[in-house]
Amino acid sequence: MTLKSEYTGAKIVGIGYYLPERVLTNLDFEKMVDTTDEWIITRTGIRERHIAAEDQAASDLAFEASRMALEDANVEPEELDLIIVGTVTPDMFVPSAACTLQDRLGAVKSAAFDINAACSGFIYGLSVAHSMISHGKNKTVLVVGVEILSRITDYEDRATCVLFGDAAGAAVLKPCPADEGILSTFMRSDGSYADLLYMPGGGSRRPLNEERLKNGEQFLKMQGNGLFKNAVRAMLEASNHVLIEAGMESKDIDFLIPHQANIRIIEGVRQRLHLPEEKVVVNIDHVGNTSTASIPVAFAEAKERGDIKKGDTILMVGFGGGLTWGAVLIKY
Ligand code: UT7
Repeated sequence: MTLKSEYTGAKIVGIGYYLPERVLTNLDFEKMVDTTDEWIITRTGIRERHIAAEDQAASDLAFEASRMALEDANVEPEELDLIIVGTVTPDMFVPSAACTLQDRLGAVKSAAFDINAACSGFIYGLSVAHSMISHGKNKTVLVVGVEILSRITDYEDRATCVLFGDAAGAAVLKPCPADEGILSTFMRSDGSYADLLYMPGGGSRRPLNEERLKNGEQFLKMQGNGLFKNAVRAMLEASNHVLIEAGMESKDIDFLIPHQANIRIIEGVRQRLHLPEEKVVVNIDHVGNTSTASIPVAFAEAKERGDIKKGDTILMVGFGGGLTWGAVLIKY
């Protein structure tokens, strides 16, 4: 059965986040690798990041963020008919983190699957949720971005280990009239840049063995500079695409929530979109780069502070390994 035709849009009705308790500061990293607080702050904007406890897996972080989002939406888990989890660090390859989360939540009427789109996972998840709802296939969708990058980070590699943090963010979506909620979406990928951010070992190409473990193939490899150059260009392309599609200009935005990879990337995007600083949500200083969790966490924190309010026009834009990038424009 499909929904009534006047509900051909989808809107975010609840948002939540979770940050693990343990915090690693830049001073902690000064004791671990050859780096300084000053280098990390000036080159990235990061001061500290949260790290999951040993007994926490992705679905545990996702569970906490989802509970907050469901409560905010006043939705019971049994009402969910689709759960989408963006992650590259699921509890295990099979089952998906989404299925584990579904069971934990008691979302007994829901389908569940993971999306691997690296840092763009939440944007991709929102885009898919929007399609499913607006086509009348689903009524109540939970989209989660969760990452425990500390599990695949080499803490002897100063070029990557200072960047990443663990977190989860979640949103609940429901049908709405087409001119409300999500106004436009955009997703794009370019697999020819795979070598800018990848994890060589552990998949079907290079299953882990003693030698590959010794070579550190279980850890993320990153060419920061190459990513940096593509990030601003791709985030601008995605932002302009959703703005044009919605018949808007950047001046119509109340808030920009960019993926939090580097304060200099965020600043580059902000300047090129001609936005004042107060319209850009930034939390990289206390969470670091949390990949797919970064946008929903920044959103939920800004809502909690009372900065973001219902009715605001919000542009979310992501970029990450793959390469993947995309944007979602909403009237919240
Ligand atoms: O989440 C989506 C995917 N990720 C991104 O989009 C990340 C994008 N890239 C970046 O954010 C930046 O490229 C980084 C923060 C990763 C690196 O900043 P950078 O300004 O591009 O530095 P760099 O890689 O060009 O390195 C400059 C220097 C190098 O030393 P030499 O070769 O010039 O002597 C590095 O070895 O900085 C050195 N360096 C460090 N020094 C102190 C690299 N990491 C560190 C460190 N502490 N932690």
